[in-house]
Amino acid sequence: MEKTVFQGTIPANIRYDRKAEALYILDQTLLPGEERELRLQTAEEMYDAIRTLKVRGAPAIGVCAGYCMYVLAKSIRGEDRQVFLKKLSDYGVYLNASRPTAVNLNWAIRQMLRTALEHADSPRGQLLDALYEKAVEIHQDDISKCNAISEFGLSLLKDGDGLLTHCNAGPLATSRYGTGLGPILLGTERGMRFRVFSDETRPLLQGARLTSYELQRSGVDVTLICDSMASIVMKNGWVNACLVGCDRVAANGDTANKIGTSGVAILAKHYGIPFYVLGPTSTVDMDCPDGAHIPIEERDGEEIRSLWYEKPMAPSGIKCYNPAFDVTDHELITAIVTEKGICRPPYTKSLAALFR
Ligand code: MRU
Repeated sequence: MEKTVFQGTIPANIRYDRKAEALYILDQTLLPGEERELRLQTAEEMYDAIRTLKVRGAPAIGVCAGYCMYVLAKSIRGEDRQVFLKKLSDYGVYLNASRPTAVNLNWAIRQMLRTALEHADSPRGQLLDALYEKAVEIHQDDISKCNAISEFGLSLLKDGDGLLTHCNAGPLATSRYGTGLGPILLGTERGMRFRVFSDETRPLLQGARLTSYELQRSGVDVTLICDSMASIVMKNGWVNACLVGCDRVAANGDTANKIGTSGVAILAKHYGIPFYVLGPTSTVDMDCPDGAHIPIEERDGEEIRSLWYEKPMAPSGIKCYNPAFDVTDHELITAIVTEKGICRPPYTKSLAALFR
């Protein structure tokens, strides 16, 4: 197995144990204080794990969904194939409703359903084997894609660069190196040094809880800042580039990512700092013409009012608006880095070329 700087230091986010026939995820809501695995057996447990961010990050949600569909397929009893396909499709619809913005969830579920259809006439054992292989393929593909994204992304950076990242787009949110953090981890592995500012990302503290955890464990020089501090570190001249992940990229390059990303991009433009979006092509939704068509998940106001605090930090009953994502206008994005290469504006052309 290839050596990585973080191997053995960051636990696997998703793990299927074939011997025990069990799907495990690392419960990311407990990080960084506790590393605890959670077994997912029922559709309700899977829905809840995705909905409550125990497993999160667009590519990781897709990988998890692949294994979930396999586990659910195994649970369907009876030999009638039409009944099997209908039940599996119902499970897919149910899981897909857990989070609307990250397109990888829908993408992975569709891959699994297509595989089930292709093997609908095979004996049950073969059909299940094909589904297992597809889930593993989705996972392995994500590892390869993250490796390629990291290489392409690294070609945009210089040794000694100051970097800013928002939310968490590392191994926990993906596979292996990650997307937004991929070039940083790969470069560090090769002896390069970066100084990274990790945006906290209120209200979920993913920069604080997850990105800082991953980078610190991997030996990267990381400094935690609140979202509101991005402009001062840019103004101080400490940031040479911004690197972020993505949850859905529309055909014109508009990109949905964790709330606050578009603000970082606006600041980066103001200070003349390149703003890079990194993600696999499974996050590019060519059926979605622009950002206005990306569904934006709205979450419980309790995440702002009371989550993470010992006692509520806002008057009880206060109205909250809590969108989980925002859309960064394509005009603010210097380049979109995928496993197939680096796309530059105009994105309508460069993204379309990826799928030809
Ligand atoms: O709500 P999350 O934690 O699933 O959202 C995470 C992000 O917005 C990430 O930046 C994005 O999924 C890219 S992950 C490589």
